[in-house]
Amino acid sequence: MHTVRTIADVRSMVRLWRGQGERIAFVPTMGNLHAGHIHLVNQARRRADRVVVSIFVNPMQFGANEDFASYPRTLSEDSIKLAENGAHLLFVPEAGELYPRGVAGATRVEVPGISDILCGASRPGHFTGVATVVNTLFNIVQPDMAVFGEKDYQQLLVIRRMVADLCLPVTVVGVPTVREADGLAMSSRNSYLTAEERARAPQVYQVLCQVRGRIQDGEADYAAIEAGAEQALIAAGFRPDYVSVRRAEDLMPASVADQTLVILAAARLGKTRLIDNLPIELKNRQQNPIISV
Ligand code: PAJ
Repeated sequence: MHTVRTIADVRSMVRLWRGQGERIAFVPTMGNLHAGHIHLVNQARRRADRVVVSIFVNPMQFGANEDFASYPRTLSEDSIKLAENGAHLLFVPEAGELYPRGVAGATRVEVPGISDILCGASRPGHFTGVATVVNTLFNIVQPDMAVFGEKDYQQLLVIRRMVADLCLPVTVVGVPTVREADGLAMSSRNSYLTAEERARAPQVYQVLCQVRGRIQDGEADYAAIEAGAEQALIAAGFRPDYVSVRRAEDLMPASVADQTLVILAAARLGKTRLIDNLPIELKNRQQNPIISV
């Protein structure tokens, strides 16, 4: 695996591979890699000849009071994991390489609507920071495809919308969430949890599973289900930002007529903000079961 820090070095490596007719997959990350990230790398390897990974803790997507300074940076461990898992190129830019005029002076990519709800409401400007850096990275790497986790479901839809609206020639691949044995979605931020919080953290997933069960059992008052789920999280010591049943396609509030849904949750536990989601497909639900006697 080659590790490079400049746009010019990425471009010359990618140009060489393209000249050989090879297909390129890209996995953007902020590092502190865990099995969820590595799963994306493995999926990328299955789909392409070459895998490019970036590690960049993107200042534009962090709010003023968020964890940019304390975000875990573990480059040497990360690069060993990537080499062991068959990544071909690791791009680790300095902020000045991607933002030569600084973050405040940078051209931005706004994806309105979908960026303003759910996590976007709790974290104003966050998805503009994500869309901007991902667009820049796409322009640098020029991959055939890019692989993202469904763990950050709203982020995945923001990227899909950006790619569609800007006609970017990149296929976006979404990969299901990788979880710890107790159900907790893997996340770099899990390392912020104290031992006591870590023991409680899987309750986010448990609450999502309960919501899914109730909907699959035919309950249709989603507002009541959401309120009950938020209460359950509060009772367990969380400060929920939201628990919400949405249409999977565009994250608009779900009605009972919608069948392809996603249940999303964001909740704070101590100083850690946890997010998770569960897809739910209701195609086989019988709205009016016929009881035969
Ligand atoms: P980061 O949080 O490092 O995540 C990088 C990629 O790994 C994202 O696509 C994310 O959805 C995926 N991922 C994280 N945890 C996962 C899990 N448990 N299972 C499956 N996939 C998982 O997301 C970002 O970085 C940044 O916003 C980025 C897109 C790199 C832009 O800065």
